[in-house]
Amino acid sequence: MSFISDILKKKNTSALGIDIGSSSIKVVQLKKKGNKAILETYGELSLGPYGGVSVGQSTNLNVEKIIQAVNDLLNEKEVAITTRTCGLAIPFRASLLSVIQMPNVGQKELASMIPIEARKYIPVPISDVTIDWSVIPRSEVVEEVSEENKDKDKDKVKNIDILLVAIHNNIINQYKEVVSKTELDAKFFEIEVFSSIRAILEGVQGPIMILDMGASTTKLYTVDRGLVQNSHIINKGSQDITLNIARVLNISVEEAEVIKRSVGMGKTVDGIDLSETVLVVSDSIFAEANSFLFDFQKKRNKNVKSIFLTGGGSALKGFRDLAAQNFKVEVISADPFEKVETPAFLEEILKVTGPEFTVSVGVALRCLSEL
Ligand SMILES: Nc1ncnc2c1ncn2[C@@H]1O[C@H](COP(=O)(O)OP(=O)(O)OP(=O)(O)O)[C@@H](O)[C@H]1O
Ligand SMILES: [Mg+2]
Repeated sequence: MSFISDILKKKNTSALGIDIGSSSIKVVQLKKKGNKAILETYGELSLGPYGGVSVGQSTNLNVEKIIQAVNDLLNEKEVAITTRTCGLAIPFRASLLSVIQMPNVGQKELASMIPIEARKYIPVPISDVTIDWSVIPRSEVVEEVSEENKDKDKDKVKNIDILLVAIHNNIINQYKEVVSKTELDAKFFEIEVFSSIRAILEGVQGPIMILDMGASTTKLYTVDRGLVQNSHIINKGSQDITLNIARVLNISVEEAEVIKRSVGMGKTVDGIDLSETVLVVSDSIFAEANSFLFDFQKKRNKNVKSIFLTGGGSALKGFRDLAAQNFKVEVISADPFEKVETPAFLEEILKVTGPEFTVSVGVALRCLSEL
């Protein structure tokens, strides 16, 4: 008996989270031990070289190139991935999220009504997208019900809020092709924002904002009670800083990438102050993020309590302090490995590179919980 249960245990205790970003693929392999998640391995593969640009730059690869890159990472000896059981994150730009109001008629009727209602909110033919939805819990409303307002509140409950999610079918088909050609055993696809929320916001109450700075874009999400409320994509990212450094120092993009990662903010190289190369990019990102934040706060009549920084771009030395000077609320560097048991010798490095792996950790955590 114990022999059989050992085999069964061995078979299914590890899970992979895969995040195919525009500049690199990130994987995290976690293992279940009791109630804990243990980090088994993690790794990253830059996509730049697959698309004829340098490391750290964003790419727009065809599916064959993506398959090749995923296979390369899965077979990378140093990363030593040992499971194919995984989940994959879908890029936020391939999705549409809306909050819609529906009558409170029960799940079955909602299931037939929502696809019809969804047509009003989705700007492409409904046959081009796959729809998913969930009821946004009204916990706040329920908590606020006082005896004398009970009847009034019944009225409110006649309508419910639904989080409507649509993903372009061509993206889903691309991901299915990647899965089948890499022999992955994919349990689910999920839009990256949900992975980030799982990785960094468990137990965080009140409205917060996530700022995910990638290579070419910066994604903003406001989240309240674990649910996405609003989102915005800024067309600026960390690669813009690299390009500025390359121009100012008159060096290659590859060299500039190395300098960006090692020097960061507030240092000079060859007597040239590099902070300006960061500030021209970060100032416009923070300005746009602030107006997104003000809009949200005005509409909801609620203040955001903190801002969580994530994405590789936020790993820049001095970036958190810079953000803290620009926002009026607390700024926190996301630490997705906080809930994961990690070897002591990796702790320092994971504090620095952690924000790059937020999405992949979130996917791996879900996959682990569904084993
Ligand atoms: N230590 C670091 N210091 C500064 N920049 C860094 C550091 N590590 C990574 N980056 C930058 O972060 C960017 C990549 O971030 P990330 O991996 O989050 O993007 P992505 O997921 O590929 O992009 P997207 O989510 O927009 O598709 C690159 O431009 C890279 O140069
Ligand atoms: Mg990303």
